[in-house]
Formats: sequence, C-alpha cells, structure tokens
Amino acid sequence: MKKLIAGNWKMNGGLEANAALLDALAQGLVNPPACEVAVCVPAPYLAQVQLLRAAKPTLSSIELGAQDVSDHANGAYTGEVSAAMLKEFGCRFVIVGHSERRQYHGETDTLVADKAKAALASGITPIVCVGETLAERESGHTEEVVKRQLAAVIHTNGHCISEIVVAYEPVWAIGTGKTASPEEAQAVHHVLRGQLKAATDQFARVKILYGGSMNASNAATLLAQPDIDGGLIGGASLKAPDFLTIIAAARN
Ligand code: 13P
Repeated sequence: MKKLIAGNWKMNGGLEANAALLDALAQGLVNPPACEVAVCVPAPYLAQVQLLRAAKPTLSSIELGAQDVSDHANGAYTGEVSAAMLKEFGCRFVIVGHSERRQYHGETDTLVADKAKAALASGITPIVCVGETLAERESGHTEEVVKRQLAAVIHTNGHCISEIVVAYEPVWAIGTGKTASPEEAQAVHHVLRGQLKAATDQFARVKILYGGSMNASNAATLLAQPDIDGGLIGGASLKAPDFLTIIAAARN
C-alpha cells in the first residue's frame, strides 16, 4: 500500500504564507510522488488551497484536508462546519479527534466516532487520531487508552471502518521535539493493526500514520517500521524543504 504523508497546519498560515508554501511544494515535488500527500488546512483557507490546486498541475497530487468536522449534517450549530461543506471545497480527508480537540474542546470518544461517521457519509476519509498522555504512558496504560479510543470509532462505523485512516499521536510527542522511538511507535501500531484485524477482514487497507515531532531527520526510520504507513506532520509541514524531505522518505 502507498504511504500517506499528511500535513496538519493547525491554526497557522495566512493567504500570503499559504501561497508561498504551496508554491515551494509545487517546485520541489517529484511528480507523481511515490506516496500519497495531503495538507489539512484551517477551514477559511480551504477555498484558497482548492483554487491553487486547480491552477497548478503539480499541486493536484496534493490532496486537500480539513482539521475538524461537525457530527451534524446541518442546522443550528453556530461555528460548526459540516462534512458536506468540506466536500464542496474538495476535501478528501478530515482529521477527527486530534488530541488538541480532545484536550481543549472536550471531545469525547463518542463524539469523535460520530464525526468520523459524518465524514464517511459525505465520502470524506476521516483521519482518526488516537494517543496517550505522558501520565497514561508512564502508568502503563498506553495500550488500553488507544484501544478504547479506536474501539469507539469501530463500534459506531461498523463495516465502513476499512475506509478510515488511523493516526497514532502520542500526546507527549506532539510539538515537544520528543518523538516516540521507532520501536515504541511500532509496538502501538501493531496493537492497533491487531484491533482493526479483529474488526474487519479489510484491515490491510487501513493506513496507520504516526504523528508527533516527525521531522526531516527522523522520518525515514519511523517510516521503515512494518506497521507505520505514513505520517501526520505538524510543525515540519509548514517548512517546504522539511515536508518535501519527509515525502521523499515515504517511498515503499
Ligand atoms: P508536530 O509534528 O508539530 O509534533 O505535531 C504533530 C501533530 O499533532 C500532527 O497532527
């Protein structure tokens, strides 16, 4: 299976900076790239990135993604964005259950599962994030936490589960410069793969990405692990040379 390298711009960027970043990616990208590539951008910039993708043929190999979606289809939900709206702006992916949303916006396992369902219903692939905090890791609960988080999504999405992407993002590794070692990450990915295997005979289709301080220097060793099928990249996705290096490291 082709690996997937997805950038999560988080709440960064601006019209000018986005155009410059995409320009640099267009210039540096080997076409077609050996892996799938996506950028998950703040909602107000979806239209800008959609237009730039249409204007530059090299950018058409970079898929568009959003960072969150409502679990509702429409209605009186001020501030929310529906999956159908994301679809209209060309989104192929949407991140759901990022730890920053779980932590700062109180998102529960059930809500994350419902968001994944809303995305799938509109034909958008949810990138479902799971991951333990430092306290949970240190108290030996990593496996239990990630399995609980993924179980909710499996329970709500039934046989559609083979259509999701999973991202293992240990909370303690996000934006901290501390990366899970390739062995630590592989061990959790193996557990998640086993859980998917028990849920669907299509488990081999499900990509499991690693996220958390993945960068130009550590990407190759992480991506060489048998159960690491790509990366969800925060900080390093905002620097074109670094993001391009990670993309280049993701050939099979
Ligand atoms: P960093 O790569 O900045 O650690 O962020 C990872 C992340 O949260 C991607 O979703």
